[in-house]
Amino acid sequence: MKTLLARIFGKKTTMTNITIIGNGNMARGIATRALAGGQSVEILGQDAAKAQELARELGAGVTFGTTADAPQGSIVVLAVPFEAAKSVVTALGHTLAGKTIVDITNPVNFETFDSLVVEPGTSAAEEIAKLVPASSNVVKAFNTTFAGTLVAGVSGGRPLDVFVSGDNADANAAVSSFVSAGGMRPLVVGPLKRARELEGFQFVLMTMQANPEFADFNWDTGLQVTK
Ligand SMILES: NC(=O)c1ccc[n+]([C@@H]2O[C@H](COP(=O)([O-])OP(=O)(O)OC[C@H]3O[C@@H](n4cnc5c(N)ncnc54)[C@H](OP(=O)(O)O)[C@@H]3O)[C@@H](O)[C@H]2O)c1
Repeated sequence: MKTLLARIFGKKTTMTNITIIGNGNMARGIATRALAGGQSVEILGQDAAKAQELARELGAGVTFGTTADAPQGSIVVLAVPFEAAKSVVTALGHTLAGKTIVDITNPVNFETFDSLVVEPGTSAAEEIAKLVPASSNVVKAFNTTFAGTLVAGVSGGRPLDVFVSGDNADANAAVSSFVSAGGMRPLVVGPLKRARELEGFQFVLMTMQANPEFADFNWDTGLQVTK
């Protein structure tokens, strides 16, 4: 499908390092940083026209397709809601074999905005990891960076910290290198189960954006480690 669309719309297919699934705010933010770091980017959306629109906005060389296409990148970023991420990886199945899969989701219960939807003792990242081929590696990253700060590349005038957790050192290193190239600082904080704390802490940060006590917080804050 991607190749067909590329032909119809006259886009050239190029070697892709990073596939981003989704065409929303985080897809835009992560793609912006990836392109700043010299990566080649593919956008796969459930709606080809929306994926094409984001690809066009991002600039020349960005390819696009649908979530039915096999991802071309060695790193695949799931820039969709948690429930959708589970469906997407299940549908993509073996086409994800050997890939580094980046889970950015915050599994917040948006009905109550008072808890996560994952049980204590697990995380969205660990639940997604149960659904992917054994040869692929799930890495948690970017769940603490708000979309607008990724587009800007800074928060509070400082480069972004990107907390990374995962069980495979090579996959963590591949994501860290992508993060560094995009002008951000990767902080590898431990195994995939550290995603529990990263998701929990980001939930707190999200509630602060909606809390009138923090009137000047508007989804533009950053979680950073200073020294
Ligand atoms: N926004 C942030 O600042 C932020 C920060 C950190 C992490 N996150 C996480 O990043 C993820 C994406 O957030 P976002 O802000 O980018 O959301 P968004 O702007 O609403 O974009 C969501 C994307 O997911 C796609 N999608 C929804 N259901 C799908 C399905 N069943 N199959 C395939 N694609 C589907 C949407 O496609 P359509 O356009 O076709 O509907 C859209 O492209 C979420 O998991 C969120 O928790 C967000």
